Amino acid sequence: MRTHYCGAVRATDLGNNITLCGWAHRRRDHGGVIFIDLRDREGTVQVVIDPDTPEAFKIAEEVRGEFVLKVVGKVRARPAGTENPNLPTGLVEVLTRQLEVLNPSLTPPFQLDDENINENVRLTYRYLDLRRPAMQANMMLRYRVSKLMRDYLDQSGFIEVETPMLTRSTPEGARDYLVPSRVHDGLFYALPQSPQLFKQLLMVAGFDRYFQITKCFRDEDLRADRQPEFTQVDLETSFMDEEGIMTLVEGMIRDMFNKAQAIDLANPFPRMTYAEAMARYGSDKPDMRVTLELTEVTDAMKAVAFKVFSGPANDPAGRVAALRVPGGAQLTRGEIDGYTEFVKVYGARGLAYIKVNDVTQLNETGLQSPIVKNLDAAALKTVMERTGAQNGDLIFFGADRAKVVNDALGALRLKIGHEKGHVDGRAWAPLWVVDFPMFEWNEDEKRWDALHHPFTSPKDGHEDLLASDPGKALSKAYDMVLNGWEVGGGSIRIHREAVQEKVFEALNISVEERRNKFGFLLDALQYGAPPHGGLAFGLDRLVTLMTGAESIRDVIAFPKTQRAACLMTDAPSAVDERQLRDLHIRLRKPAGEPA
Ligand code: AMO
Ligand code: AMP
Repeated sequence: MRTHYCGAVRATDLGNNITLCGWAHRRRDHGGVIFIDLRDREGTVQVVIDPDTPEAFKIAEEVRGEFVLKVVGKVRARPAGTENPNLPTGLVEVLTRQLEVLNPSLTPPFQLDDENINENVRLTYRYLDLRRPAMQANMMLRYRVSKLMRDYLDQSGFIEVETPMLTRSTPEGARDYLVPSRVHDGLFYALPQSPQLFKQLLMVAGFDRYFQITKCFRDEDLRADRQPEFTQVDLETSFMDEEGIMTLVEGMIRDMFNKAQAIDLANPFPRMTYAEAMARYGSDKPDMRVTLELTEVTDAMKAVAFKVFSGPANDPAGRVAALRVPGGAQLTRGEIDGYTEFVKVYGARGLAYIKVNDVTQLNETGLQSPIVKNLDAAALKTVMERTGAQNGDLIFFGADRAKVVNDALGALRLKIGHEKGHVDGRAWAPLWVVDFPMFEWNEDEKRWDALHHPFTSPKDGHEDLLASDPGKALSKAYDMVLNGWEVGGGSIRIHREAVQEKVFEALNISVEERRNKFGFLLDALQYGAPPHGGLAFGLDRLVTLMTGAESIRDVIAFPKTQRAACLMTDAPSAVDERQLRDLHIRLRKPAGEPA
């Protein structure tokens, strides 16, 4: 139907007769001449309709925003002074000979070039939202990113294998989405939280290098970087160690950033142990662009009179840490109150601070703070020395269970760092975090949980710790972090049945439950399972970072809201009684009614 994309018309087309199809982006009536910016996925071009073509002119008068048009006309130079050098089509315009309305449009619920459209309206009319040039660019980048990764893996000898969507779930720490079986009364499939066990079984099956760009489903609390269904670039290899896998996938990410956006990421990516990341940044996914750091002062607070500090300092699960903010003495009372409120979300019960007026005077004159009188000179000296405090700084403190301190000060570090410009100016800060613990203590349930997943191999020499001191056992897991986001994670897996049993033992999974849930894996490991490992990237997160979008919803064509709903199709929805009966389901109460 057309000869050119609207956004592709150039000065080289001058004098040519062309045919365009697209949407009326804007229409302007300039005293007798009508201008329409005609838009398609490649951009917009200015179309001119003058009264010399009365038929076209009459149609143009009726055209409104988002009408679908077909334009036949001649490319000509824009009159001197009316060129727009900011637009790729800005030197030319199309003088219309024939105009046809292929389909009119209702008045759209929002202006497509409005910057501040309510997100619920955008999601309800997603097909209009996706027409916006920014969203078109996001989706095209997303395609390009996955294509580049697919090509890289293909060239590295990986083959794509699909794994089931209707399956028995693999534990990745979230709640499952369940699918009732019609054929098996009372039984359920689960949608996969990841292809983890299937990809391991593909290694047992000898495929050696597998990848898949696939959907994963997790029913968890949603945030800006989480969706209930999201896409992984998932891969697994046999006969490769951590070093080999990390080098390979790091090369893929570097290559992809370079080809997609001409960005050169560090080579190699720096590495940091989990222990160091938690100690210095309170997070296992530190944003390395922020220059503020936590300082350990637990040991120095054991004997102080201030119970708020000495309590956690003497608790094996406690931590007291300081966060020095250079120049922070300038912070207003209101700002400090704001930060105190901010850390409460992470469970912090307060946010003690010291303003450093004169670091040589370790008393209430040199150090301005309600808590200084309760800290002895030795403790204050340690704080000043370890944080490297200078006059004019402010030091915040967190004292609580280590998890609370890390979460609170880790988040505060990011907030103050970005708000007050304590950043190093880098656009991209990739990082590998390594040496994760095998397990994490679950305080609520009083048991050990797998920090990654239960198929992660312990580090060499740490097998005995699985039983004797689980908290000390480290794993062969690695996470790739970019600008404070976990973009990928993986590990070397357990390939010996005996070791897998020990891990299940440490996780307090009974022999019966092991057989019942993981029998197929335990069997497979005994039929010549090769050493293997891999990793999965969060495609949505990678693309979000590359576009600079605030939320992963902006790089997913049809995402869900914070409450896991699709506003466009109105899913989830009630189903009719017959469907339920087929599935052997009786609702405990009608849908939508309170419990
Ligand atoms: P993991 O659970 O770390 O590992 O997931 C891999 C990556 O997927 C992304 N991701 C998400 N993105 C959007 N929304 C979510 N709800 C979400 N959850 C995770 C993250 C994360 O780094 N089977 C293992 C991988 C392996 O060991 O090979 C796994 O799924 O970017
Ligand atoms: P209080 O003695 O409870 O009035 O607290 C004195 C100061 O310590 C205040 O600035 C509180 O914000 C702060 N504070 C209280 N609890 C904690 C905590 N767990 N960690 C850090 N600071 C705290």
